[in-house]
Amino acid sequence: MKNIVLVGFMGTGKSVVAKEVAKRLGRQYVSMDKMIEDKEGKPIKEIFAKDGEEYFRKIEKEITKELSHKDGLVIDAGGGVVIDDENVRNLKSHGTMVCLSASPDVILSRTAPSKDRPLLNTPDPKRRIEELLAARAAHYAKADFHIDTSDKKISYVIEEVIRISNEAGD
Ligand code: S3P
Repeated sequence: MKNIVLVGFMGTGKSVVAKEVAKRLGRQYVSMDKMIEDKEGKPIKEIFAKDGEEYFRKIEKEITKELSHKDGLVIDAGGGVVIDDENVRNLKSHGTMVCLSASPDVILSRTAPSKDRPLLNTPDPKRRIEELLAARAAHYAKADFHIDTSDKKISYVIEEVIRISNEAGD
């Protein structure tokens, strides 16, 4: 049984969708961000502040390698995991990769309440969202399937991911 790997920008709904898909399919839910936090013993924003983004990406890559040897999981990947091609190859080697997307305004409204995302902790988060989306577009395009979650009910997105996973024969 292949993994289901949810990728996509921050605020596109990966966590809530991955948790529910895992529950409904009786599979294990795995959050890469949580694995990184557990490994480092501190929250993501502290890793960024104290050790820097480059260090965070190194740990993220290690976690990706670990996960690429496992099967049957629903993986909630961090928003930036796809910027490294080897990460994409590893995650796809045992998994169907589904990318969730949303418009900059929707991402802004979904991420604004939390200060836990260091990359968006800037005076002009909307601009940062647009810049990062543009820089990452070609990377997100590498996913096997795409779902725009901007104006979709979460229940629809969950069912769509389950349908994709069944069709992919996972
Ligand atoms: C990041 C997304 C975050 C987290 C870190 C970096 C990114 O995960 O990994 O803050 O580069 O887009 P979520 O997409 O789960 O918020």
